[in-house]
Amino acid sequence: MAQDILTRPDGTAADWTIPQDWDAYTAEDHATWDTLFDRQARLLPGRVTPEFIDGLDMLRLSKPGIPDFDELSERLMKATGWQVVAVPGLVPDDVFFDHLANRRFVSGNFIRRPDQLDYLQEPDVFHDVFGHVPLLAHPVFADYMQAYGEGGRRAAQAGVIEKLARLYWYTVEFGLVRSEGGLKLYGAGIVSSYTESVFALDDPSPNRIGFDLRRLMRTKYRIDDFQQNYFVIDSFEDLLDQTLNTDFGPLYAELEGQEDIEIEAILPTDHVYTRGTQRYAREQAA
Ligand code: PHE
Ligand code: FE
Repeated sequence: MAQDILTRPDGTAADWTIPQDWDAYTAEDHATWDTLFDRQARLLPGRVTPEFIDGLDMLRLSKPGIPDFDELSERLMKATGWQVVAVPGLVPDDVFFDHLANRRFVSGNFIRRPDQLDYLQEPDVFHDVFGHVPLLAHPVFADYMQAYGEGGRRAAQAGVIEKLARLYWYTVEFGLVRSEGGLKLYGAGIVSSYTESVFALDDPSPNRIGFDLRRLMRTKYRIDDFQQNYFVIDSFEDLLDQTLNTDFGPLYAELEGQEDIEIEAILPTDHVYTRGTQRYAREQAA
């Protein structure tokens, strides 16, 4: 998603898609994917929610090299009716929502340079495909993403995208989920990052608090570094249930008069899994 006004680059279709142009990837591009994939494949078992690993297996994402979107879409289509389409980079909100509402996930077609393995600003094919696509093979998460797109179209018309963007941020990108074996990762921004995959679960710095839709929609977020707060859902079923079956219209109206909540704040009403020290954020700021 992009908040700012973007202009459609030459050669993109009206819906901002482009051909993936798989044959144009170099041996170095494929090697970069393989390096990133191997690192995460070794790190994530036991940390990530099992549905993510199921998705990797079902979609054969461990096959060496950058996945071919047509091949990937064929498998994904059979599982949940989703497709992956290529875009040059960030796309405007309305375009993004429209793709999701139609069960199309937009992915950057470029891959980061070998000197950017740990950090880059714009989502590349590794973040988009490795991070997001495995859970799209899960029926409940797949429904959530489509519903989000539909909700986005409504929110855009009402001019209240910011609150809804926070929901995407704190679930799809940086969500944690409760399990009998402790908290697990599912957010794409975490699972596509080697360092945040460790930080989000093990570091004493961030808060980890229970998912609460109203509270979450009032909470600011940071896009430039590790999160200072993670929201923990009970299950994908519960997430879908709480969002799909709630009309956000009255909720937006209710939240309009309320103040934003600071990222690191803990409220008396929060279900606190971990009260963070915020040490990491303090050290980065110093
Ligand atoms: N129910 C929300 C609305 O009324 C839409 C939505 C569903 C948003 C699921 C996010 C996730 O707008
Ligand atoms: Fe993302």
